[in-house]
Amino acid sequence: MIVDGTLGGGGHSEALLAAGADVLAVDRDPSALAAARARVSGFGSRFRAVQGDFGDLASLVDAPVDGVLLDLGVSSPQLDDPARGFSFQADGPFDMRMGDEGPTAADLVETTPVDALERVIRDYGEERFAGRIARALKEAKPKTTLEAVEAVKRAVPRKAWPEKVHVATRTFQALRMAVNHELDSLDRALAALPQVLKVGGVAAVLSFHSLEDRAVKRAFRGLEGRCTCPPGLPVCACGAEATFRSLTRKAVTASEVEVARNPRARSAHLRAVERVR
Ligand SMILES: C[S@@+](CC[C@H](N)C(=O)[O-])C[C@H]1O[C@@H](n2cnc3c(N)ncnc32)[C@H](O)[C@@H]1O
Repeated sequence: MIVDGTLGGGGHSEALLAAGADVLAVDRDPSALAAARARVSGFGSRFRAVQGDFGDLASLVDAPVDGVLLDLGVSSPQLDDPARGFSFQADGPFDMRMGDEGPTAADLVETTPVDALERVIRDYGEERFAGRIARALKEAKPKTTLEAVEAVKRAVPRKAWPEKVHVATRTFQALRMAVNHELDSLDRALAALPQVLKVGGVAAVLSFHSLEDRAVKRAFRGLEGRCTCPPGLPVCACGAEATFRSLTRKAVTASEVEVARNPRARSAHLRAVERVR
């Protein structure tokens, strides 16, 4: 049994099913579940899909599994549908929720104090104009994506607009990560791996943001049980024992050919670990 924690359009689940695995799929998004269920209906009871947060991995599986796959972030259907509020290109409600619960991006902007909003935009978006953008958003109280885009444009000096990406890219990414508590879910799922993986089981995570990749790298290092004794101790006293081994010495990235075919693979980083005891 493999857990596909980010079902999305069902591409990975379908490939896993076609390779012979049984799949338990999870997604926060009810429309992703409906579309993917239709796509893989031919595999019958070998496929099961539930609406949920992969951060709750430990409670989603009832027995240890052979694999966990996470393909982080939003899906193309979510990004491309203006009604979901992820797009800075097309107008829609300023929503950004992957699921159907909790505060929207508009609610987040309205209820978060300006200093905290600035931190969200700076830390998750690595945006140098975070302070100005946070103040502009608080003033504008955007209800639609294009109202939010206009606020960002007003806040960033024209000559500082990036050449290759839209000026609102970093802000939208940051707000999306905050609305969906993305790093928190990732940390909880990574922490659950020793509990949910069988010996010989593999966890693979595809991330698209440096903060996500850093969290995965750090968690996998911890799972590998590297010695955490202070330097200089003559013998290891922490008793670290390898329960996992890394399958990817460095993060695997997409080739030029793959990026040409699928530009969204540009920033993908894949890391994997195997449980060895
Ligand atoms: C990049 S897409 C996955 C695409 C998928 N691998 C495919 O083959 O089509 C990410 C999906 O994961 C879902 N997702 C993101 N974070 C989640 C979380 N914490 N819990 C459950 N689903 C999540 C999103 O709703 C989205 O549908």
